[in-house]
Amino acid sequence: MGSTFGVAVVGFGWMGRVHTQAYARVPHHFPQLPLRPELIAVADEVPGRAEEAAAQYGFATAARDWREVAADPRVRAVSVAAPNFLHREIGVAMAEAGKHLWIEKPVGLTADDARAVAGAVAKAGVQGTVGFNYRNAPAVSAARELIAAGEIGTVTHLRIRLFSDYAAHPQGALTWRYERERGGSGVLGDLASHGVDLARFLLGEIASLTADTAVFVPERARPTGATAGHARSAGGELGPVENEDYVSCLLRFASGARGVLEACRVSVGEQNNYGFEIHGTEGAVSWDFRRMGELGVSRGTSFQDQPVSTVYVGPGHGEYAAFQPGAANSMGYDDLKVVEAYNFLRSIAESTPYGATLEDAVRSAAALDAMARSAEHGTWVAPAE
Ligand SMILES: NC(=O)c1ccc[n+]([C@@H]2O[C@H](COP(=O)([O-])OP(=O)(O)OC[C@H]3O[C@@H](n4cnc5c(N)ncnc54)[C@H](O)[C@@H]3O)[C@@H](O)[C@H]2O)c1
Repeated sequence: MGSTFGVAVVGFGWMGRVHTQAYARVPHHFPQLPLRPELIAVADEVPGRAEEAAAQYGFATAARDWREVAADPRVRAVSVAAPNFLHREIGVAMAEAGKHLWIEKPVGLTADDARAVAGAVAKAGVQGTVGFNYRNAPAVSAARELIAAGEIGTVTHLRIRLFSDYAAHPQGALTWRYERERGGSGVLGDLASHGVDLARFLLGEIASLTADTAVFVPERARPTGATAGHARSAGGELGPVENEDYVSCLLRFASGARGVLEACRVSVGEQNNYGFEIHGTEGAVSWDFRRMGELGVSRGTSFQDQPVSTVYVGPGHGEYAAFQPGAANSMGYDDLKVVEAYNFLRSIAESTPYGATLEDAVRSAAALDAMARSAEHGTWVAPAE
């Protein structure tokens, strides 16, 4: 059993809870990890929320002000799961306090924010892991390996989709997500950020892109009390939705491959319809998050009428073996966060980054900035380095 290692969680909404559960589960799945997380502190600004979390999960202390977490010498690593507008301030402060950082995507409101957090992490010499969890799916790892091994030939094009209905209900409350100052670029940061990370993880860097955006639900009711997740509000005063519900984007990769990325948060009839289809000169590979353990694969030498088969991931694909002994046993969303916690703690233990880093967050955020600029000016834009 590894030595205890003090961790804290800031922001105890959906992601705060998932990070906490991941810390609790990581030693069960990865007993070889030399660090065993100990839940030291939790902070949330809603009165009573941190205390409730402490009582349920066993954090030693609870606070409303995250600065108490930054000042606590027992805390060695911090999960930042607060809304996007706080990522920069809290992320930089935690790194400056010498805490290793596991921070949720998209890491701030802009690429500038992501760069500030990345810079603080580099300067402090701490490890930084980012919540791009979809790349942790064993099937996504398998797809990456298969592509890198040339099994579908030279990649020609990709389609990547992230469709959700989480904001489709007209009574969905006007929370921080819909404000530019606190939620940033809407579906770009929320969903397209994951799409960009997957695209880069699978196909490499994006050389240029052109995008179109839209707001389909222009007004929502202000919440009448504290919110978490995608709360509803009926009867509250109406206010404007300030950021994007939808983005479509054409991509040109440095490799020469082409791509289409589409993301929408108001797609009625779509629940977590996230996935990709990638084509190459000799084959194809596809994945759907809702059937996380399956990969559609076409490979061979037929070119035309070439069969497509379903590959069930199993031990040997990504971190699957840490969860199930044989192929086709289902894994779930939370398991991807356990893999992320493992990558984070392993990075700290070995002083070497594993999994998605702040450099990946900067690259993703630069692509999102480029999408916003392209949508405004109607031009092709190269994401800033
Ligand atoms: N990786 C993923 O798949 C994924 C999924 C959902 C959300 N996220 C990201 O996680 C972050 C949180 O999203 P969520 O869905 O958990 O939101 P949420 O609204 O459910 O939770 C946010 C929490 O932060 C708290 N908070 C607000 N201001 C605070 C402050 N000053 N100090 C401490 N706590 C504060 C809120 O009270 C709330 O409990 C966002 O950045 C979002 O982009 C990532």
